Parts: sequence; C-alpha cells; structure tokens
Amino acid sequence: MPIRKQQQLMSEAHLHMPQGVAENYRYWGDDNTVFVENAKGCGFTDCDGKTYVDFRLGYGPIILGYRDARVDQAVVEQITQRGTLTGFSTALDIEVVKQIKALCPQIDKVRFANSGTEAVMGAIRTARGYTQRDRVAIVEGSFHGLFDEMMWKADIEAWDPNSKLAPRVIPFGVGVPERARALLDIFRLNDFEGLEALFATQHEQLACVVLEPIIGNAGSISATPGWLQRLRDLCTEHGTMLIIDEVKTGFRVAKGGAQSLYGIYADLTSYAKAMGNGYPVAAFGGRAAVMDKVGSHAGGVVHGGTYTANLVGLSAAHATLNVLTNTNALQTIDRVGEQIQALLGRVFSQAGVEHAFAGPPAMFGIHFTPTVPQNYRDWRVTNSDLYRAFAWKLIDLGVMLEPDSREPWFICEAHQHMDFAWLEDMSSQAIRFALDNH
Ligand SMILES: Cc1ncc(COP(=O)(O)O)c(C=O)c1O
Repeated sequence: MPIRKQQQLMSEAHLHMPQGVAENYRYWGDDNTVFVENAKGCGFTDCDGKTYVDFRLGYGPIILGYRDARVDQAVVEQITQRGTLTGFSTALDIEVVKQIKALCPQIDKVRFANSGTEAVMGAIRTARGYTQRDRVAIVEGSFHGLFDEMMWKADIEAWDPNSKLAPRVIPFGVGVPERARALLDIFRLNDFEGLEALFATQHEQLACVVLEPIIGNAGSISATPGWLQRLRDLCTEHGTMLIIDEVKTGFRVAKGGAQSLYGIYADLTSYAKAMGNGYPVAAFGGRAAVMDKVGSHAGGVVHGGTYTANLVGLSAAHATLNVLTNTNALQTIDRVGEQIQALLGRVFSQAGVEHAFAGPPAMFGIHFTPTVPQNYRDWRVTNSDLYRAFAWKLIDLGVMLEPDSREPWFICEAHQHMDFAWLEDMSSQAIRFALDNH
C-alpha cells in the first residue's frame, strides 16, 4: 500500500510541533490527525485527496460556507486598498457595531477582540470592574475559552451517576494553578435549588454569572426558559452581571443569538465564531452603563490589543453580518438542520437506537438516550460510546464531525447543496457498523 501523505506530514510535524499539531484539539492520534488541503462550501479535501462533508466546521465559525465569495472579496478589497492595521480607528469599527446593535437589542456599546477567549476575558473584567466584586460563577459542562480561570471542569467521566455528590472539579491539565479557581463557583444547569443556593451564599461577592444557555460544548443541552428567567431575576436583584457567552450561538441560532430565542437578555455578551465566517474576529458588548466602565479614564477597565479590530477580521464581520442581516441565510440553515435531524432520526429509529436531539437546528446535539438531557450529569448516562463508534465510522465514510457527542453538529448555508440521500445512506451504514462493533 502506498504511504499516505498524511503519514509523511504527521511524522514531519512531530519534529516541529508538540504532538505534531498547532494546538491540542487537532491531535486525533497519529493515524487520524487530519491535514486539510483545501475547503470549499460545506466540505473539504484532505492531503490525500479524500473529500468530506463537514459538520464540524472548525468548531462553528463557518456559518455561510468555506471560501464564501461575498466575504472573501470584501476582505481582499479592504486589505488591498486600505491595509490590515495601523493601530488607529477606522470608520468600519462604527459600522460593524451598528450592525451588531441592529440584530441584538441588548447591546448599546461594543469592544472588539480576536478570539472568543479574549472576548470572554474582556466581559468578565468589565463585570468585575463595574460591580467592584471578584467572584465568577459558571455552569457545569460549559466552556468559555482557554484562560486559567475558566480551565476548570466537572470530571464527568470519573463521576458515578448513582452518587448524590457533585462531580469533582479538576483543571483542564497541568500548568493551571489551583489558585486560579479560588474565585470560581460551578453550578448545574436547570437546577433551581443550586441556583438559589449560589445567590444565597455568594451574592455580595458575585461579580457575574457566565453561561451558554444552549451549551455548545455539551451537545447543545439547553437552559429551560423558566430557569434562565430565574437566573436573570436573581442577577438583577443582587447587582450581579449576567454574561451570556454567545461565542458559538451568536449570529447562528438566530440573528440575535440565543438571547433572542429566549427573549431573556444579558448585561454583557461575548461573540466570535459565526460573526466572521471563519476569519478571526470577536467582540463583547452590553448596556452602555456597564460598558462605559471600559476605558483609560481613572477607574476604567483596561481593554486593548495590537490586533484589535484589524481590517481582515473586521471586514469579514462586516460582510458576514451584512449577509446574515439581509438574506434568509439563517432560515435556510434552520430548514437544512431540520431536514438533517429528520433523516438521522429515521436512520436511528430504523436501527432501533433511542435518541434525542438537543438545541436548535443550526447547532444541534445528538444523544443516544430516550429523553433530552437537562444538564451535564444527564449527558453522562447517554450512550456516548455508541455515538463515538457511529461518528468514527461516519468520518471513515466521508462525513466529518467531532467524535464526541458533546460537540454539536454545525450547519452552514452551503449545506443546502449537499446530497441528503447520500448522508442518509452513510448514516445508516455507520449506525449499523457501530451497533455491531462498539
Ligand atoms: C462558548 C465558548 N466560549 C468561548 C470559546 C473560546 O473561543 P476561542 O476558541 O475563539 O478562543 C469557545 C470556543 O469554542 C466557546 O465555545
């Protein structure tokens, strides 16, 4: 058998990068780490010429499709006619904020960033500066970026589902000091008692609660409207900032993000991913009274960065938000997501696999369990091993997804052109294979 180019690249990459990858999450083992040659529409070709229809979409930023000409041309125009950055303001800064405000009624003022991590950091620092408090609460199973304070998780794999105790909280890895969690509280989604207890004990110190109401990092398990409203009310009552992290949901699950689906609004919001269709751009924003705490004035919250609002990212955001505002791209995505859920539902039912979909069609989780999980602990009792076997077989058959049911299926506008009958056939083959082999 000829040596695959993947093997050559993997061996060479090991000489130059730890684990042979540019960042940890790309390492899928020496045989399965993917090297991409090019991407277009809703798919990509790997270094050995194998093509994939992609539902991973780079962890969600691709909302229109890879190499969307409407976005790419706008970027090329900006950078060839105006440059990438000068470290000064441009009129485009104002234009993009106006676009965000037109879609998201809870936003009065915005600051930009380059990644979701940076946007969340900015929002938390602003909340702390505004409230003059230090503690931060997050929800079990959520992810808010790779900075030490947010790199703590419920050790769900080691948790005994029959136990009455909460899962142990552990760091993502070494190098994260224990002290980094000294100001962090972790509570459970949709647990009214836990929510009341959090505010009963911490309310005078709680600067903010940060959450994804649709947990993009726990298979789109979602807050119930009643629970989210109670959280909103408690935050208001106690002067705690509610930060809704829309890094995955923003400009994806609806034009106004998860908040517009619930009709419940945050004091501060973080955005990234879909706002730039794959270009690196992010933002955080909120009520004017809170955001005006940010600035170089005395008592101001510091926010900055060399690449902030660079014209590559900003022109991509401008073009992407323009398409999302003025076309029915998100309606198309919802329709396609529903169609895919319907075909997968048929496949699972025919194979006798109990299943539940969580979250909205643009970003849905698949859980092999009879009822939709209500929190991260419920996810633990889903048949995630069967899902993993199903996912690996699909990847083998040319359907790319994350082989972990905590990562949702992402839909982009370009998926409307894919072959749905082919996907149904591949899914059917994959679930049969998984049932026989897992
Ligand atoms: C909800 C959420 N917040 C923050 C982040 C961090 O974003 P980034 O990877 O752009 O730093 C992510 C990344 O997946 C995310 O899903």
